Amino acid sequence: MLEFNFTPFPELKTERLVLRRMTTADAGQMFFLRSDDRVMKYIGREKTKSVEEAEDFIRKINVFIETNESIMWAIALNSDPAMLIGTICFWRLQPENFRAEVGYVLHPGYWNRGIMKESLLAVIKYGFEGMSLHSIEAHINPENIASGKVLENTGFVREAYFKENCYFHGAFRDTAIYSLLNK
Ligand SMILES: CC(C)(COP(=O)(O)OP(=O)(O)OC[C@H]1O[C@@H](n2cnc3c(N)ncnc32)[C@H](O)[C@@H]1OP(=O)(O)O)[C@@H](O)C(=O)NCCC(=O)NCCS
Repeated sequence: MLEFNFTPFPELKTERLVLRRMTTADAGQMFFLRSDDRVMKYIGREKTKSVEEAEDFIRKINVFIETNESIMWAIALNSDPAMLIGTICFWRLQPENFRAEVGYVLHPGYWNRGIMKESLLAVIKYGFEGMSLHSIEAHINPENIASGKVLENTGFVREAYFKENCYFHGAFRDTAIYSLLNK
């Protein structure tokens, strides 16, 4: 069984980005992301209602990092590392299966510039080399074309399709499950 250790926090750097630890100073941007209609369109979760709620969320995430239960990075541009423009995480860790689920969101002002592809490639590398994962999975709403593209562009394969398995706001929605093996 794998044992994860996220201390010291693994900051990741790419050509354009820094993936860093979040602090409560990111709460304003986090509130925007988790309450924006465009960002939340395909995410079956209640929107965040206040900056305070976003602060609590960040505190909770930082506890999970300390206890090695999950990890979330703030995505920022190299040119402005203080400004969170998105997040990417490994959660629902399955150490017994050397497997974890990835999740991500990006501010709409930065969509379609390859930023999530660049972030995901860095996080995949950390997942396979730093965490010794054997596989990574992602669950998406199949109507989320951009998310499916990001996954396919980083090597993920659609392995499963669950019909109406997710009930949210009075409707049953489908889920597509993608995975990437550490070859
Ligand atoms: C999904 C998301 C993270 C993508 O981030 P991004 O940085 O824009 O992604 P990239 O630029 O790396 O790639 C987007 C790809 O989708 C394509 N795309 C976007 N919208 C599209 C559309 N309507 N039809 C077809 N292709 C589309 C882009 O052309 C690009 O593919 P390409 O590089 O092959 O041309 C971003 O849209 C987002 O945050 N969405 C809201 C939150 C969300 O849905 N998160 C995922 C939950 S599972």
